[in-house]
Parts: sequence; C-alpha cells; structure tokens
Amino acid sequence: MVSEHSAVPARAQILVASNRGPVSYTLREDDTLDARRGGGGLVSGLSAIGSDADALWVCSALGPGDREAVRRGVGEPGVLMLAIDESVHSDAYNGIANSVLWFIHHLLYQTPLEPVFDEEFRRQWGSYESYNRSFAEALAERAGDGATVVVQDYHLALVPGMLRELRPDLQIGHFSHTPWAPVDYFRLLPDDIAQQLLRGLLGADRTCFLTQRWADAFADCCRDQLGDDALTGTHIGVHGLGADAEFLRERAHRPDVAERMATLREQIGPGRKTIVRVDRTELSKNIVRGLLAYRSLLHSRPEWRERVTHIAFAYPSRQDLAVYRDYTADVQRVADEINAEFGTADWTPVILHVKDDFARSLAAYRLADVALVNPIRDGMNLVAKEIPLVSDEGCALVLSREAGAYEELGDDAVPVNPYDITGTADALHRALTMPAGERLERTARLSAAATALPPHRWFLDQLEALRRLGEATDAGGDRGPGSGG
Ligand code: G6P
Repeated sequence: MVSEHSAVPARAQILVASNRGPVSYTLREDDTLDARRGGGGLVSGLSAIGSDADALWVCSALGPGDREAVRRGVGEPGVLMLAIDESVHSDAYNGIANSVLWFIHHLLYQTPLEPVFDEEFRRQWGSYESYNRSFAEALAERAGDGATVVVQDYHLALVPGMLRELRPDLQIGHFSHTPWAPVDYFRLLPDDIAQQLLRGLLGADRTCFLTQRWADAFADCCRDQLGDDALTGTHIGVHGLGADAEFLRERAHRPDVAERMATLREQIGPGRKTIVRVDRTELSKNIVRGLLAYRSLLHSRPEWRERVTHIAFAYPSRQDLAVYRDYTADVQRVADEINAEFGTADWTPVILHVKDDFARSLAAYRLADVALVNPIRDGMNLVAKEIPLVSDEGCALVLSREAGAYEELGDDAVPVNPYDITGTADALHRALTMPAGERLERTARLSAAATALPPHRWFLDQLEALRRLGEATDAGGDRGPGSGG
C-alpha cells in the first residue's frame, strides 16, 4: 500500500543504510505508483525487531519510479529514500561500486588492459564521496542519541568514517556482503584510494564479514596499507548469513510453484536427471564456465546424453553496464551452441531462462538432483544453502571452493576449482552418480549447516554485539582492538 505521506520517525534508535532499499516504485500508465517490497536477509532480519520498533532504513532512489515517489512525498513506514542527483548516483553505483570495487573484491579484471585509474576515475570517485556523504548526513540527522547504525556493503564504504565525525555518540557497524580482496589484488587501487576506503570502514565500531576468510583478507589489507596498528579501535566480526528455512519451505509448496514444476517436468522429459543452477547474471557467477563444463561432460561421458538436463536460470543484473550485457549474450550463445550440438527431437540439453521468476526458481530447486554453484568468488552464495534445503529428494552440491558458503558446506559438497572445466565436468559426474543414501545423508548435513544462522538471528547478533560494545565504552572501556566481539 502506498500512502501519500511517509511515516518516518524523526529520530530512530536503530538505523540501516544500504544503496538498494526494501521497496521500489514503478510509475503505472495511469500515473499512480506501484510499490514492491523486496526480500533478502536484511528484510527478514529487520522484521525480527518488530514493526513498532524505533527503526529507520535509509536507502537510495534507484529508478525513475523511486525518484517520483520521493518527489511526491510518497513513502513506506520506516523507510527514508534519498533522491541523490542522478548523475552522482550513476557515477557512484555503476562507475565506482560496480565497475571498480566489485571487480577488485571478485578478482574480475583482465589485467593486461584494465583497470585504468585516470582523470575520469578520479571524477567518478568524487561522486562516490559525495554519494557517501549524503548518506552520512541523513543518518546523522535522523539518529537518536546513542543510536545503533548498521551500514551495508561496498557502496557505502566511506559512510562509517564520515558518520563517526558527525556523530561520535553512535554505535556504528558495517557489513560487507562481498568477499574481500587479497592484499596483492587490493594494491591495484591507487594508494590514497585504498587507504581512504579502509579508513572509511575503520570508522565503524565493528566491521563485519560473511566468513573468516574475508575478515582475514580485510585485516591483511589494513596492516599492509596502514600499518600494524591500523585495527586498533575497530572490532572485526564474522556473521555467516544462513537460509530462511521456514519461509522457503512454505513458499516452495504453494500452488504457483507446483504449476511451474509441472511445466519444467515436461520440458525435462521422463526419467532424466537434473543439474540446476540459479543465479543473477553476474560476471562473478561463472555461468559460462559452468556451461562449458556441462558440454565437456557430454563429450567425455556420452552415456549422459539424453539422460540429463541442465536447468540454468540466469536472471538480469546491472544491465546499465555493457560488460554485463555482453556476458548475458555469451551465456545465451554457449547454451544455444550446446543445444544445437547435442539436442535431439525430444531432448533439450540446456533449459535456459533469463527472466526472473521466483516461483520457477523454487520449482527448479525442488527438482534438483545436482546443484551447480561454481562462482569465481562469492561473499556467501545463498543458492548453495537453499537448494539442498528445498530439493524434494535431496541433491548433490557441486560447490566452488571460492564461495563463502564453502567454509560451512565444503565437507558435504563436491568441491571444484571454478576455472577448471574438466575438473568441474568430473565433479558433475561424481555428483550425478552419488549413491542415493549418501546423497540424502549429505543433504541433511548441508541443510543443517545452511540454516545454522537464520536471517533474524544474523541481524540481532550484530545489534547485540554493537550494544555490548556501547555499554563497555560507557563503562570506561576502550574501543577495539582486534577481532571477535
Ligand atoms: C549482490 C551482493 C551484495 C550486493 C548486491 C547489490 O547481492 O551479494 O553484496 O549488495 O548484489 O546488487 P544490486 O542489484 O543492487 O547492484
């Protein structure tokens, strides 16, 4: 429901800041606004503190619908949308966050020719700074005395430092949902930029990561760039976000999912095994190499022809960027090539869908014999946690050792080096031939590990840790140093 005035508390005690907010607006033909609420860990995390809690989510207007909502003063309770200048936002989001920071943390550059840190980069960096400053100022204005603020991700890396200067009384947390780059790769950034980023994050009382591996990489970069004492004053936390079992299991058994299962079953054909992958079409997800590995499997082990179907859902992401559009076309091309080479009258080797459909994703989860999750690098990867949980007959999980989820699921997955095509083809074969009993046992352990830290607990743990730090400071304790906490 869209109300014509926003119910935003003047001063909040718990604040969340992220680029993408929990709601987005589109302008209908009749000139009214349609509000859609999104999902994800933060949304279900926040719901745990209750709707009457004194909470505020600060986010950015992203599209024309969002901007129009801000202009009309339309809003959702507890959400403050900032209409930052469109070109500033584009430089910060497309130029810096998605084309530089995302590339650094996921090791995506083709280094003989890129990155190029020139005047244009410096200009965009200026926009990134002012975008971050807008958030810091809005948070400073809306936070009550001693409030807790949790800032999300690489879009807002400078906010903790800026906010600390404006409001030393606040408890500030930062959460990185991505991996963190290893020292030598982080050093691709110009020194002053690298140091500014780290100092921005170190403005938080706690800076948090999804796995110990990314937390260690961050600490290594701090020591390398800023010296051994850099971490004094900031605690490093690790919170491995888990899947929301209750929500997923209920949602996956609704009629719209059953309908899509029937359609998929028809497309797959009787008696065939399924290899399922569901991703946003990110360069880091490694969808093309996944398809190449499947092709390699069909070449090297012809016994699988007509006996397996690869269901690949690759949903649109960041289509403003040419490199993402090109990658989407590559995915389509390789899938078409495989279908042309191996397809028969009643067998389509790859069923590729590129239009987002959550119910269909859940349908594919339920039908999965094998889940393929082979990212080049990934902060966590919740799909790896969700498929074993939802699959009707348990599934074998082929999992990249470079996904954050590997830290928790590695023991019961079939591991792969994401660059190794023949290795991945072998892993697919191993997964497809895993004995039913073993598959069920592994699925049970995978599901337990996947749900160890559900979203609401993940979020409450962070608030609790910040609150404890606040109490310790009030009692005369120091800020930092070190990890844990
Ligand atoms: C992925 C990453 C998050 C990031 C998000 C942004 O989900 O794991 O770390 O915040 O992408 O996506 P967007 O569509 O807003 O660029």
